Amino acid sequence: MRARTKIVAGNWKMNKTVAEAASLVEKLQKQLASFSGCEVVLCPPFTALASVAKLLKSTPQIRLGAQNLHPAPKGAFTGEISASMLREVGCQFVIVGHSERRRYFGETDAFLREKLLAAVSAGLHPIFCVGEDLPDREAGRWPDHLRSQLQGVLHALPLPVLSEIVLAYEPVWAIGTGRNATPEQAQEAHALLRQELERLHGQSIASRLTLQYGGSVTPQNARELLAQPDVDGLLVGGASLEAESFTSILLSVE
Ligand code: 13P
Repeated sequence: MRARTKIVAGNWKMNKTVAEAASLVEKLQKQLASFSGCEVVLCPPFTALASVAKLLKSTPQIRLGAQNLHPAPKGAFTGEISASMLREVGCQFVIVGHSERRRYFGETDAFLREKLLAAVSAGLHPIFCVGEDLPDREAGRWPDHLRSQLQGVLHALPLPVLSEIVLAYEPVWAIGTGRNATPEQAQEAHALLRQELERLHGQSIASRLTLQYGGSVTPQNARELLAQPDVDGLLVGGASLEAESFTSILLSVE
C-alpha cells in the first residue's frame, strides 16, 4: 500500500517535443539535485516517455507518470496504450479520469473503473481525478457531484486496489483559468472526499490515501494550499512546463 506521503506531479498535457522534454528534465535535475521534500512525478506525453525515463535513471527520486491508459492488456484499440506498455517504459504512475479526458473523449465512470483496475494490476499508481464544473460549484451542488464521482468509480473496489490510488481534486473551473480554489475551498472539498472515502471503504483507508489538489497552482499559491490538513500534494498543469515555476512550487513543500 502507498504511504500517505506528499506528492507533487506535473501534468504536461499535450506539450513538449522530445527535445523540449529533455531540456526541461535536465534543468529540473540540476535544480532538484538535493531536494527531498516530497515525491515528484513528471507526466510527459506518450512520445517523450521513453527518453524522459532514460534521463531519470540518474535521479530515481523523480518518478515518471503517463497521462492516460487503455484498460485492455492488448489488442485492436488503434491509438491506445496499455498499462504494461507504460510499466515497460518506466512509468510508476498514470493519470486516470482527468476532466479533459472525461469532457473531450467521453470517458465514463465504468470505463474509468476498468482503467483503475488495469493500472493497479500492472503495478502502476493511478492518479484518479475528480472535480465539479462551474455551474455545480455556483449552485452549491459540488458535494453531491464529488460524492457521485467517487461512488461511481470507487464503489466496492477491493482494498488492495484502492490503497494504490492517489486521489486528485481538480475543480474544472480552476483548470487553466488562473482562478485557483482558495485554500479554504480546497480543504473543504478534500475533507468531504475523505469523509466519503470513509463511508465507502472505512476510516483506515480514508485516512491513509494521498489527496492532491489541482487547478491553477502557481508558486504564489502552492504553499497555502499545501498547508491545509487534507491537502497532501498538488497536480500542476501550466506551471509544470517551466523548470523555474515547477521547482519553486516544489520548494514550497514543507
Ligand atoms: P493548470 O495547472 O494549468 O490549471 O492545470 C491543472 C491540471 O489540469 C492538472 O492536471
